[in-house]
Amino acid sequence: MRTLIKNGTVVTASETFAADVWIDGAKIAALTDPEHRDRFGQAATVLDAAGKYIIPGGIDAHTHLDMPFGGTTSSDDFDSGTVAAAHGGTTTIIDFAIQKKGESLRKALDEWHAKAEGKAAIDYAFHMIATDVPPPVLEEMGAIVREGVTSFKLFMAYPGVLLLDDQSIFRAMLRAGELGALTCMHAETGLPIDVLVERAIQKGNRAPIFHALMRPEAAEATGTERAIALAEMAHVPVYMVHLSAERALARVMEARDRGLPTYAETCPQYLFLSEDDLRGRPDDPFEGSKFVCTPPLRPKHHHDHLWRGLRNYDLQVVSTDHCPFCFKGQKELGRDDFSKIPNGMPGIETRLYLLWEAVRENKISMNRFVEITATAPAKIFGLYPKKGTVAVGADADLVIWDPGKEALLSQKTLHMRVDYTPFEGKKVIGAPEAVFSRGELIIKDDQFVAARKQGRGQFIRRGTFNL
Ligand code: URP
Ligand code: ZN
Ligand code: ZN
Repeated sequence: MRTLIKNGTVVTASETFAADVWIDGAKIAALTDPEHRDRFGQAATVLDAAGKYIIPGGIDAHTHLDMPFGGTTSSDDFDSGTVAAAHGGTTTIIDFAIQKKGESLRKALDEWHAKAEGKAAIDYAFHMIATDVPPPVLEEMGAIVREGVTSFKLFMAYPGVLLLDDQSIFRAMLRAGELGALTCMHAETGLPIDVLVERAIQKGNRAPIFHALMRPEAAEATGTERAIALAEMAHVPVYMVHLSAERALARVMEARDRGLPTYAETCPQYLFLSEDDLRGRPDDPFEGSKFVCTPPLRPKHHHDHLWRGLRNYDLQVVSTDHCPFCFKGQKELGRDDFSKIPNGMPGIETRLYLLWEAVRENKISMNRFVEITATAPAKIFGLYPKKGTVAVGADADLVIWDPGKEALLSQKTLHMRVDYTPFEGKKVIGAPEAVFSRGELIIKDDQFVAARKQGRGQFIRRGTFNL
């Protein structure tokens, strides 16, 4: 059963060209010259994409669905979160399984498979967060990699919960290197941050803004430098997650200039929002809790540095760090103490809309838009060329992107299971008209149209690091 998307303009990370896209089953079967369409036979379904772009489905390399965190659980599960992602043009996510201290990686991976199986509406893969790495766990990393979980996130923050000491980080990096796995670092120096937090609370500085003020840029800069140094000593590649600040970026740039295999992602919240948002409303500073995430939102002047990093290839990926908590009942856990506000913001659905605004404002090209949202995460995380591009033989994960379609970003119009959006009321131009996942039309005119929703998404075993 062939589907033809005709008259569109294909945009990849490197090229923009007019082509008909033929889908056969789950794959892209051919890209052909629209002028000679009649040579290529018939299709059962035909969509006209005149005036539209055909781009690879987005890959969100950083999500937290159904994640226990901060005394509660992120409000999107693999059902609601993946449906929301699809509405926003994302067709693959990489979520994080979390090892509990003292337990095995196997247990964590089984737990995350159970959360996703039968629920996910789009394809998904996993990273593994390692929180405790005695020799048997280091050994076990091999089995995890062989099952297609080929990246490990390690934390320098959250003492007592997720933090690993430098020796453990170093051992885990060495083992990841042996296995061809990629180490992802949450690079904030967490122990002094906890002292700052403790002192703020003692002084009565309890409003959400203090979350940002007690996690200064210096903590991320020093963490980033330390993570890079450890990776350099271990001779392994390293990927900095959710990079937020100028000085952290400067450390990445220095490393890359020295030829080290250092990679980094940022997130839309660090490109479009700022520390000011954490101040909330004059009549209700606690509204700022909606913007509490870690690392925190930074003062506005960081935006230009991050955009420059994206243009200059010092930052390779924009992922969301989607970690939603409702204002009512969840963010409110920290009404009297910012340190109890669950850390994280919703964004799995809004990434492409927001980044397209940057295309419209000439901050990035269309090709770079495709690269940072799909191609680069696919290459870095072992999904390419199955995912992340428009090419013959690739999975037909495609978005027909309408550059003239207006959309309102509002909690009322979006599909994430959370009672607010940080971008409430923002009007954007450019939106998905249709989304295909493995050849199946899943979104059309803002509706989820696939016959099956829960469970149609497949677990994707990723390849090892290969850049
Ligand atoms: O605030 C955030 N980023 N929550 C999710 C956990 C993490 O560190 O990515
Ligand atoms: Zn993190
Ligand atoms: Zn995260």
